[in-house]
Amino acid sequence: MRGIILSGGSATRLRPCTKVTSKQLLPIYNRPMIYYPLNTLLKAGIKEILIIVAPERAGDYLNLLGSGKEFGAKFTYEIQDKPTGLPDAFVIGENFIDQEDVCMILGDNIFEDDLSGEIKGFNGGGKVFAKEVPDPERFGVVEFDKDRKAISIEEKPAKPKSNYCVTGLYIYDKRVVEVAKNLKPSPRGETEIVDLHNWYLKKGELEVAVVKGEWIDAGTFDSLLRAQNFAKEKMQGKMII
Ligand code: G1P
Repeated sequence: MRGIILSGGSATRLRPCTKVTSKQLLPIYNRPMIYYPLNTLLKAGIKEILIIVAPERAGDYLNLLGSGKEFGAKFTYEIQDKPTGLPDAFVIGENFIDQEDVCMILGDNIFEDDLSGEIKGFNGGGKVFAKEVPDPERFGVVEFDKDRKAISIEEKPAKPKSNYCVTGLYIYDKRVVEVAKNLKPSPRGETEIVDLHNWYLKKGELEVAVVKGEWIDAGTFDSLLRAQNFAKEKMQGKMII
C-alpha cells in the first residue's frame, strides 16, 4: 500500500503565522505538525510516501524530511500548484500510486489512536475513518450500519444524519485514480472528496472505521492550541519519529 500526505494549501485562516511557512510545518508542541500524520502512516508499515506540497514551500519540506531514509521510508514529492480539492491528490499521484492501494492522510490531521490494524486490514473498495463529534455539520457526515457499511455521506449538511464526521484519513483501491480524474468541481470551485466516497458507497464498497481516541484537524487557531496541549499530554509516548 502506498501513502500520501496532502500538505498543500496556503492556510489563509492562520495568517500571519502562515505568511512565510506552511501550516503543516508549524510546531505542535515539540514536533512539526506533519510528523503526526507521518507517524500514523509509518506505524501502519507504509514506507513509500508521497508528500504533496505548495510550490513556494517545497524546499522547506525537502530540508525537513529529505529522502525519508532517516525515517526508514522513501519519500517522493509533488507540487500542487493550486488547491483544487482533496481528490486532486490522486490525480497528481497517479504515477506514484502505480496501481496499488493508497492511504491518504491530510497533513494537519492528528490521530491519537494507533490505526495500523484498520489500515493493514483494508481489502478493497474504500474505507473512511469516522469520529463522533458534537458539531458534525462542520464536516463530511457519514451514516453507517452495524456491519460498518456506509449508508450515506454528505458534505457539511445542514441537518446531519449522524454525529459521525469523516476525518482526514482515507484508503482506496487503485480505481480511485480514474474516479478522481472524472470528478467535476462543486459550486465552491473544487472537486470534493465526498464525491469519491459516494462513488464507492453507491457500489456498496465503502467501509467505515470508527476512531475512538482524540482526533484534531489543526486548521484553526483554536484547534491548533488544542493540538499543542493534546500533543504534550497524550502523544509523546505514541510517536515513533
Ligand atoms: C475536508 C473534507 C470533509 C472532512 C474534513 C476533515 O473538509 O471535505 O469531508 O470532514 O476535511 O478535516 P475541509 O476541512 O476541507 O473543509
